[in-house]
Amino acid sequence: MPGVTTPALVSAVANAGALAMLGAGGMPLALVEAALDEILRSTPQPFGVNFLIPFLDREVLELVSPRVRMVEFFYGKPDASLVEIVHRAGALACWQVGSTNEARLAVDCGCDVVVAQGVEAGGHVRGSLSLLPLLAEVLEAVRVPVIAAGGIGTARAMAAMLAAGASGVRAGTRFVATEESGAHPSYVAALIRSQAEDTVLTDAFSVMWPDAPHRVLRSCVERAQSLDADFAGETTIGGAIFPIPRLSVPVPTRATTGHIDAMALYAGESVSAVERVTSAASIVRELCDGAAVLLEHAAAEVTAQQPPESELDLPPASTKG
Ligand SMILES: Cc1cc2nc3c(=O)[nH]c(=O)nc-3n(C[C@H](O)[C@H](O)[C@H](O)COP(=O)(O)O)c2cc1C
Repeated sequence: MPGVTTPALVSAVANAGALAMLGAGGMPLALVEAALDEILRSTPQPFGVNFLIPFLDREVLELVSPRVRMVEFFYGKPDASLVEIVHRAGALACWQVGSTNEARLAVDCGCDVVVAQGVEAGGHVRGSLSLLPLLAEVLEAVRVPVIAAGGIGTARAMAAMLAAGASGVRAGTRFVATEESGAHPSYVAALIRSQAEDTVLTDAFSVMWPDAPHRVLRSCVERAQSLDADFAGETTIGGAIFPIPRLSVPVPTRATTGHIDAMALYAGESVSAVERVTSAASIVRELCDGAAVLLEHAAAEVTAQQPPESELDLPPASTKG
């Protein structure tokens, strides 16, 4: 989540024991390097970096890959030459996918992990399926760890995805509302006020990145469409000031000024679980400890009443597609 994933957020999540990702998006090398320096000073734990394919600079990828445990790509056809760069640097390669075909392609290209993203997700959305049907298909199709993403904001949702066979879960929107996040306070306040029903999958914010649907708060689409100006505001990145055109992709950060409520306020259906600003570590604990309790409880209920899974006569899963 470029701009949101400050070095402080990445290291807080990593120190809490989760796999933190630095959103590098299309950030220039100097900024990514500076962020990595800061993260590496504040955590000995593994973390990753995420690149958006439409904005990818191969030189940045080459130089960054040796410094992280995992490199992830999103929003482009899986590409074996990119995976090769990551592997040569000694890192794991991951691809966030929106369909089973894309998951197969990613694994064929050598990816070690895939993230299956359902349409419930906040930010840019790659596919057209809800998370559970997508996850079920992807788990049948590939033999690498699959991480579930999209709408996961509670321990209950995390437990459900793990019970369904995911090797892990990704949460995005929850971490926007953290003490360490770089998100603008008005964006965070809007998330706290919102429920899943207040989000919409749209292509409204397509200036700078067309043909890429995204889930945002419905209110920001309405505000942006009725804004009587070419620019919604401006933001400072690495000491330089950039204007933010109306209906363009940048997320408002602490360094953004202008009509924040008319900018892209990315939010997943998980936004219902965003109730307050808290530390990133407390979210990791809430999700992981809560999911563990729920899974233990479910397992205890099953063993009390049911034969072990190995004795169950489960029908073969569909292999259609
Ligand atoms: C503000 C925001 C920015 C995001 N930026 C990226 C990104 O740069 N790269 C990426 O792979 N995914 C990005 N995502 C999507 C996440 O990887 C993930 O699919 C999503 O957050 C999961 O849904 P959730 O928000 O309901 O947890 C972003 C999500 C949000 C909310």
